[in-house]
Amino acid sequence: MTTSSPHRAPSGCPLHGATADQLPPSAPPPREPLPLYGAEFERDPLAYYTKLREYGPVVPVKVNESGTFWQWMVLDPDLARDVAQNRQGWFSNDPRTWARREEVQENHPLLRLLDPRGHMQCHDGAEHARRRRPVVEAFADLEQHSLQTRRFITALADKLIAGFAHKGEADIEIDFAHRLPLLVMMGLLGIDARYAEEVEASVHEVIRVTPQAHDGSRRLDSIFRRVVVEKLKDPGPDLTSRMLKAAGGKRREINEVESQSWFMMNASLTTAAWMSNTVLEILTDTELRAQIRDARVSVGDVANRGLWQAPPLQNVFNRWALKDVELGGCQIKRGDMIVLSLAASGSRTRPDDPFSAVGHQAYLAWGAGSHACPAQDLACHIVYIGLERLFLHLPGMELTVPVDQVEWAPALVVRGPASLPVHFSPVHDLDRGVSAEWPQQPLYFAEHPHYDSAASGTAANDRSSRSNSLRSFVRGRSPRTPRGGR
Ligand code: HEM
Repeated sequence: MTTSSPHRAPSGCPLHGATADQLPPSAPPPREPLPLYGAEFERDPLAYYTKLREYGPVVPVKVNESGTFWQWMVLDPDLARDVAQNRQGWFSNDPRTWARREEVQENHPLLRLLDPRGHMQCHDGAEHARRRRPVVEAFADLEQHSLQTRRFITALADKLIAGFAHKGEADIEIDFAHRLPLLVMMGLLGIDARYAEEVEASVHEVIRVTPQAHDGSRRLDSIFRRVVVEKLKDPGPDLTSRMLKAAGGKRREINEVESQSWFMMNASLTTAAWMSNTVLEILTDTELRAQIRDARVSVGDVANRGLWQAPPLQNVFNRWALKDVELGGCQIKRGDMIVLSLAASGSRTRPDDPFSAVGHQAYLAWGAGSHACPAQDLACHIVYIGLERLFLHLPGMELTVPVDQVEWAPALVVRGPASLPVHFSPVHDLDRGVSAEWPQQPLYFAEHPHYDSAASGTAANDRSSRSNSLRSFVRGRSPRTPRGGR
């Protein structure tokens, strides 16, 4: 037992080292943090949370074996919402308020998501609002021009599908669900194909909490630094340029922009898990497929149901207590870390009729309060359109492996299949049916800084050649080197 344990257990504590399946049905509050890792947790996290819940609505959990990296996990939906809404101001999103960070000695990959950084999610109050404002405005713009946004996503989805439709087999997670949100976000942030593969691999490492998370995070930092430098010289109709404009040329705030991009790119991968989870659900439920075929249920309905049955973002690890508080019968000390289990909370709020109650405002899946997800509409567009195009083009898709052999990615933060192999009748003429043109202005912004689409000269030509290379990427060929030999 370490000094950092939430309770002081007498020696010989019967729960020390116990895993959730070894616990009695109505267990007393745990004296030691319970493991949030291991085969049983990874196999069925929702069942695991149900067992944890037997201890009470809030339990101490740990993510490393030594127990130095522990937190209070909130398993109850009402308490989780209270903490997220933070009406009394008892909780902070700022990792600098974490009292025991230095006790986590090993380089745990989850730490990369908890580093104090310049992005909005790490800040409270007015500082948070300042960083969030340009992003919310940009997403509102996308919504206002949702026809263009939808066309953009549809074109990308079709191009990705055309890349594998003729083969008769694909990995829907790797070839499609993982890529679509990243490509949309790259378009939104004004990032071109030169960085595509590195961004894709690095985001995967960070958000899946892999041992390579540190390197992935560093690579992303360096890419976004380069993108910021480029956008300062040559602003475009993109979110990076928009955030830079809001920064008003102040150096400190310019540095924040790369961190904002880092965070949004990682956050967008939640969308991939959401899409893959939904594909798996549809492929493994023949009744559901029949309902979709007969237009009794849409793929969007199924996706929405998945938001509360098995939220793609399982656990939100970034709250710390600003004072000693009692939460769900537990004494939380100032500086203690709190994790909001959206998965445990969502699975306790199932309506009787799965399709009756929820739009995409599913309970807590998008968070609550000032930090609630600002990209809900965009994420919904990506998932609904991605699924619609997939099942439109490949209606006979079937899983290649039995469902119990589907490989899952680590479940600590985002839960989704690591791989989703499928087969289908090859479709040979798909790329003739899809628009060949990558949009010249990646995403539409009503107002954009200094950008003049009629501008002649190098900047406009560079933009055009970058668009071409991204098109090559999407089509699965090697990107052409843009002008200037980059
Ligand atoms: C394009 C895709 C996405 C982007 C760009 C995005 C972006 C963001 C950003 C920037 C925040 C931080 C907001 C703040 O601190 O003020 C956030 C929070 C959040 N997002 Fe998303 N997100 C995306 C998709 C999703 C999806 C698919 C889900 C799950 C269904 C999700 C769930 C959440 C939740 C629960 C929070 C709140 C976290 C907290 O309370 O600290 N997001 N998202």
